[in-house]
Amino acid sequence: MIETATSTPVVIGVRGLNVFYGEKQALKNISAEIHEKKVTTLIGPSGCGKSTFLRTLNRMNDRIEGIRIEGDIQIAGEDPYAKGADLLALRRRVGMVFQKPNPFPMTIYENVAMGPKMHYGLRGKQLDEVVEEALREAALWDEVKDDFRKKNGLNLSGGQQQRLCIARMLAVRPEIILMDEPCSALDPISTAKVEELIGQLSGAHTLLVVTHNLQQAERISDYTAFFMFGELVEHGHSKAIFTDPVHRSTQDYVSGRFG
Ligand SMILES: Nc1ncnc2c1ncn2[C@@H]1O[C@H](COP(=O)(O)OP(=O)(O)OP(=O)(O)O)[C@@H](O)[C@H]1O
Ligand SMILES: [Mg+2]
Repeated sequence: MIETATSTPVVIGVRGLNVFYGEKQALKNISAEIHEKKVTTLIGPSGCGKSTFLRTLNRMNDRIEGIRIEGDIQIAGEDPYAKGADLLALRRRVGMVFQKPNPFPMTIYENVAMGPKMHYGLRGKQLDEVVEEALREAALWDEVKDDFRKKNGLNLSGGQQQRLCIARMLAVRPEIILMDEPCSALDPISTAKVEELIGQLSGAHTLLVVTHNLQQAERISDYTAFFMFGELVEHGHSKAIFTDPVHRSTQDYVSGRFG
């Protein structure tokens, strides 16, 4: 059977999304359906709105002064912007890793333990197990296993901090995972491990991953969305986007002619 873009269930639906920072419009009339339990990569030149798109999905932009968001967003059947929306449940179901690692100023253990403690009330040995598993999955365990209960997360290197943030996100077991350039601060070995992790998580999780690495996008994703100047130019099977895109600008971008 040939799989069409519409044959898998949709877990995130966006319609007519406009996002403004003051006068500046960062996203223009975006409509997209994100497929459940698949990896979708978001690509496009710097400043085209990829991070804005990710952050808007899980209400990470709420506190930005002068931001205006219009349009419809549905995540797993719920509108995150509805009156009385359950933000705690949204945080549990939708995990995010940011472009810049942002560990909390506390120990590595506490960074990872905080989510499962808060969301599931885990304590003691059970919590320890979840922390270790998340650190292993994020390929950080071997480097921190001797001092993760004492060492402050802020005292890790940049790449280690990014993997700590990945572990912190994984520990909550979100169904939907948003990753904004998760590998941009990582060395090739850690990058390969994170790519492997993304492969392991897909199938059971929905992943939306921003990357500037086009080879990576092609390797890890089922679907790719190409953004330019705040517009979603093209969205489809990664194979089609990278080998036979419909739009000229997509062709130019994926072949390295601009961006
Ligand atoms: N907090 C903010 N306040 C004002 N303008 C913003 C803010 N965040 C982003 N912008 C603007 O919105 C546009 C989209 O930015 P965004 O960070 O979403 O792009 P991006 O595609 O993630 O870029 P990059 O690849 O460089 O990370 C840019 O013009 C940017 O300057
Ligand atoms: Mg960005």
